[in-house]
Amino acid sequence: MQLFAEPLRAAIAAKFGVEPDAIRLEAPRDDKQGDLALPCFLLAKQLKKAPPALAAELASALAGAVADVTAFATGPYVNFRIARPALARAVFAEIAEQGARYGGSSEGSGRKVVIDFSSPNIAKPMHVGHIRSTILGASLMRIFRHLGYTAVGINHIGDWGAQFGGLVVAIRRWRSEVDLEHDPVRGLLELYQRSKAAVEADPKFREESVAAYRELESGAEGEVRETWRWVTQVSLRGFDATYRRLGIGHDFVRGESFYEQLLEPTVARIQAAGVTEISEGALIVDLTGVDKGLKETPCLLRQTNGTTLYATRDLAALFQRFEEFEFERCLYVVGSEQRLHFRQLKAVLKRMAIEWEPRAEHVDFGLLLGPGRVKLASRKGAVLVLDDLIDEVVEEARRIIGEKNPDLADAASVAEAVGIGALVFNDLKRERIKDVVFDKAEILSFEGETGPYLQYTHARLASILRKAEANGEGGAEPDFAVLEGSGSILMRLARLPDVVRGAAARCEPSEISNYLLALCRELNSWYAENRVLGETPRTTAARVALIRASKSVLGNGLGLLGITPLEAM
Ligand code: ARG
Repeated sequence: MQLFAEPLRAAIAAKFGVEPDAIRLEAPRDDKQGDLALPCFLLAKQLKKAPPALAAELASALAGAVADVTAFATGPYVNFRIARPALARAVFAEIAEQGARYGGSSEGSGRKVVIDFSSPNIAKPMHVGHIRSTILGASLMRIFRHLGYTAVGINHIGDWGAQFGGLVVAIRRWRSEVDLEHDPVRGLLELYQRSKAAVEADPKFREESVAAYRELESGAEGEVRETWRWVTQVSLRGFDATYRRLGIGHDFVRGESFYEQLLEPTVARIQAAGVTEISEGALIVDLTGVDKGLKETPCLLRQTNGTTLYATRDLAALFQRFEEFEFERCLYVVGSEQRLHFRQLKAVLKRMAIEWEPRAEHVDFGLLLGPGRVKLASRKGAVLVLDDLIDEVVEEARRIIGEKNPDLADAASVAEAVGIGALVFNDLKRERIKDVVFDKAEILSFEGETGPYLQYTHARLASILRKAEANGEGGAEPDFAVLEGSGSILMRLARLPDVVRGAAARCEPSEISNYLLALCRELNSWYAENRVLGETPRTTAARVALIRASKSVLGNGLGLLGITPLEAM
């Protein structure tokens, strides 16, 4: 609530001769305690007074200091209440003026955040395990950009590693046995799975695949590298189709192989820092000294057979990113099953005494599970492919919409938006560390804590505005006194900027989700009690203004999550 908070802080600061920045105003826990609160503990200590006495003194001293704001003391707090008509006028004006930018700021200008998200592995379709990273990461990109940051999205595709030796050999041997023409992504998956089994069971196959991977890592041109390149291209094309559907993009697609030339220099740099040792033929960094929890799990940089590892490539990438972007934060949106890996990376930086180590953050998250909290699998029991999951939800959305609103124009694109909205919101509605349960019927409900519920509320607001327009209502000078009982909605609308800022600080889009759910609940009970159209012109105008501002805030919030706000559904 910058609008009223700033003059208030200035008035308080002037009373004590301190800087306005030293004055912290909070949102009170309870509406009855006004709209803003000043805790007096610190000031009371400085002034050697009892906090409640100081609060009472301040409340009377601040009476009338800022127009339309009254002050009263509650225990050790001074509470401030903003007169509803003035609050409404100020909030609506701010929202109208900022439009799509409302909720954002320019505080991130000149600051860079690198976001590593989605990052699937080639030779496999994107499976549901990647959906959470994709959705969370894309939302964080939008949130940081809304705050003016330069957010750099990087897709750290898994396109390097010993497994590709096996895949190349499998393609060499069995390419004629699968369909690599029409559905190459699925054909590759089949060969990939066969190669994994063969590496286990057949020593000759294993030998051949180690040789193939060594050839790949050597950088030599030839059949191995060509095959690998082809696999990469086919896979990327498949991923792109899914991203387009979700309205998502990265600034850079840089697979692990992108860092190929940097692997040796990276290993050399870590060695030069004097933190490596040889253990059973492998090059490792012992991490015990910086993190006791990693006593048994040193970071492996190079295997006995000379090849590098996932961690080596991630270290190369991290150094490269810092050089290129000088990021303030480098966020890894990756499931919590990789917690050990990121803890090791950070521990290596600590051992090297790299001062920017805290800037690398593992933004971890829980699993995506099926109803009954079982592992999600496709009907055939194979890997559940993300595209199939989206299809399934969109199909069900189409059915529900056809039933509820058979005359809806553009039903196919609405169904796509509702299906994707349901999937996305389900992923973002709880703290990210919690597991997500995917239950098609539940996530598509128009009444629960769902994406469609938010989209439906937005469409209802849009419909009221369309009717007002058609009736020529809402154009009178608004009488904001009729919004006397609507203070909590007004304050909610005013708080979007704080909510967005908090979501970015904690990498927690769920803070926006919960905010939007609360707003929609308030709005739904509000218009059950307050008729908008057909009232006196000045009353209607005030209520239309509230609807318009709410629609705008809801639309902006949905956009940040990656959900399409709908005009009708
Ligand atoms: N490709 C990995 C996987 O699917 C995720 C990569 C995450 N990003 C990273 N920089 N390690 O498990």
